[in-house]
Amino acid sequence: MEQSSDFIIFLGRFHPLFLHLPIGFLVLGFLLEFISRKEKYKSLQPAVGFTLLLGAISALVTAILGLMLATDGGYSEDLLSIHQWLGIGLVIFAFGAWWLYTQKEKKKEARLDKAYVGLLSLMMVFLAGAGHYGGSLTHGTNYLTQYMPNGLRALAGLPQQQKGFKPIENIEEAVVFQEIVHPILEMRCNSCHNASKKKGELQMHTVDYLKKGGENGPVFVAGQPLDSEMIKRIHLPESDDDHMPPKGKTQLTPEQVALLEWWIEEGAPFDKKVAELKTTSEIDDILITLADPDANKSEVELLLAKGVEEADPEKIKEIKSKGAMIKPLSNKENWLQVSISKNLPVDELLAEIAEAFPKQVTWLDIKDSPVSDDGFAAVAKMTNLTRLRAEKTSITDNAMSHIRELPYLEFLNIYGTKVGDEGVLALEDLSNLRRLYVWDSQVTKDGARKLEGRNSKLEVNLGFEVTVVDSLSVQVVPVKGE
Ligand code: HEC
Repeated sequence: MEQSSDFIIFLGRFHPLFLHLPIGFLVLGFLLEFISRKEKYKSLQPAVGFTLLLGAISALVTAILGLMLATDGGYSEDLLSIHQWLGIGLVIFAFGAWWLYTQKEKKKEARLDKAYVGLLSLMMVFLAGAGHYGGSLTHGTNYLTQYMPNGLRALAGLPQQQKGFKPIENIEEAVVFQEIVHPILEMRCNSCHNASKKKGELQMHTVDYLKKGGENGPVFVAGQPLDSEMIKRIHLPESDDDHMPPKGKTQLTPEQVALLEWWIEEGAPFDKKVAELKTTSEIDDILITLADPDANKSEVELLLAKGVEEADPEKIKEIKSKGAMIKPLSNKENWLQVSISKNLPVDELLAEIAEAFPKQVTWLDIKDSPVSDDGFAAVAKMTNLTRLRAEKTSITDNAMSHIRELPYLEFLNIYGTKVGDEGVLALEDLSNLRRLYVWDSQVTKDGARKLEGRNSKLEVNLGFEVTVVDSLSVQVVPVKGE
């Protein structure tokens, strides 16, 4: 019994080799059929039946070998059964197509030809399906998409591929298994140790399976990294058959090995955070590299880095034709900078921009223009505005009630306007505001100091104070609100 089942598996292992024959014959038969319908290639017509028959026979042999291989086990049941039925269907359709071919050749009925073409097409669908599921069985379901570029992944609606670790925002709070250990296993081990490919009877894609271990029992011993099977195998020389990941596959980096050992050393917990485990200085150094480089970026930097969808180029063209200057902030992004010069109907243009592409405008320059307080109602709609230059206009505190609606505003110049203390104090909630230029306006030193008191990152610039130090030297110091 033992021996006969070994022999069956031995034969079954020819399935992956043999399956190329039916693929070749059936695809060729399909192509010949349609090519030979052209007058020029008519002479190929008699070859179609023969090719289809060869395809059908080799498909039958392949299917039998496949059934033998399946007795070897270790495949995902669901995938296997879909693959199996597609394969069996393919054999039936291939023979069916060949038979219909012989019939229509004999009887020359249009009805038969239609049925034949239909069956031939169905056969190709089953061929593609069986091939695809077969690939998923041996290589894992993500085999095709694993190295797909992110652009294509987006088109296919797949999640974006993270190269290595997903950056961790707060390392101390990170759950060690979930955010550090699991991603390593996911990247380097799970392709062979998962639900559909359980090499060594070991699955590593869920906590329960990982705890369960493989055919030789548990793969880690809490507290004992060097006695843990998975670590032992990682340390074997790469040429050793038991080395993991097997020779030729992308290997773990020394840092990844150190992290796995650290996790086991600390008792292999599944719910503890970094802060709850002891670390060595070596581990600390590695952990730092996992931290999110964006963690210290300002909200405005993150917004600009995140980007924005493209504004309608037709609309841009239209508003540009009315005199507004509209340029990309840099040539690879969709963010826009807009400036409108003095002799234009600013309020109207602002309203049109706010209508057409309010989100894309991040820099706006309307200095020295006849903009009115009401014109700022349109500006308030440009919610991603980070820089606004409105100096030397006749705006008043009323405009500020609109400007305070701009959460990302970082830089505001309103020097030479009629804005006063009440106006600028209305901006106290703009937590991203860093620079405010108010010299030569109605804003007092007192008002400026008050506002700075409410936003510690804000610098209010009141212009320059000229002090005559003595008869020969003059000291010029910027007046800050303090
Ligand atoms: C390319 C496929 C592949 C990858 C990737 C892979 N393994 Fe394996 N693994 C195997 C095969 C095949 C076996 C069974 C053969 C054997 O026992 O050597 C196995 C067996 C094991 C076993 C023994 C299970 C037992 O109980 O016998 C452990 C432990 C193991 N792998 C750990 C890992 C770890 C950890 C990783 C990632 C660092 C990994 N494997 C990555 C193919 C792979």
